[in-house]
Amino acid sequence: MNIAMIDDKIVDSNQLDRSYLDRGLYFGDGVYEVLRSYNGKIFALDDHLARFENSLAGVEIAGIDIGQVRSRVLKAFEAAKIPNAKIYFHITRGSGPRDHNPGLKMQPNFFLTISEIGDYSKSKINGYKVSTYPDLRWKKCQIKSLNLLPNVLAKMDASKKGCDEAILVDEAGLITEGSSSAFFAVFGGVIQTAPLTANVLPSITRKYVVKAARNIGIRFIDKSISAAQAKNADEIFLGVTTKDVIPAVKFDDAVIGDGKPGPITKKLIDEFIKFTK
Ligand code: PDD
Repeated sequence: MNIAMIDDKIVDSNQLDRSYLDRGLYFGDGVYEVLRSYNGKIFALDDHLARFENSLAGVEIAGIDIGQVRSRVLKAFEAAKIPNAKIYFHITRGSGPRDHNPGLKMQPNFFLTISEIGDYSKSKINGYKVSTYPDLRWKKCQIKSLNLLPNVLAKMDASKKGCDEAILVDEAGLITEGSSSAFFAVFGGVIQTAPLTANVLPSITRKYVVKAARNIGIRFIDKSISAAQAKNADEIFLGVTTKDVIPAVKFDDAVIGDGKPGPITKKLIDEFIKFTK
């Protein structure tokens, strides 16, 4: 009999729940999305579904009906009745005996959770502290893949340092992005962030930050920032779906600006929120 052991319990492998055999678990073989709602309205669903489709294509998970994914998201959101919700979902290549080669007969697994987004207003008022960490990730970070171990290690390092987010720095000394956020700095009234070609996730928040900046007449440039330059930024902020724009007031040992969220960041926060109404 082929057996499996779950903690202390020995079970017949044939009796295992297929979730134990999910390739997401064995190999991180899947892709995910995180989106949110504001006051009962899902924000940027089409953007997230389009990115999800790109991620699926990027890891060659074929045959997914994006219309069905959309329906499931809407159905679950309606059932949850949470006005300010975080919606997470992933699709893995499927379940089966552990083999690097998946073969052709995989049936993808879909999984979704919805939870309430807590109150993060204090982080907008006080600003985040961030610390740098080497970017140890693979070269296809435009794919929102379940392989997040380098991101997890980076976040743990930041947490040990009393920081809220890790900022990933590549081998050339350039910032790519946060462990789970996009990174922006302001120099002389101009917002700067790494180009999308710099092995970063095409952040949906970034897309709306660009629009917000345009609306309030602030210049925006795509140009990588070194960790050394970031220390001298006038302002730093992060972008992430769950919290949109979050100021950062400390970068490693450097205090950014006067140690309080900067004026451009504040304007962006106010402008961004208009998109969510
Ligand atoms: N993370 N970069 C990385 C590495 C991320 O993981 C995220 C988001 C972002 C911001 O992307 P967006 O604006 O589309 O949320 C940038 C999600 C929220 C997560 O993994 O939980």
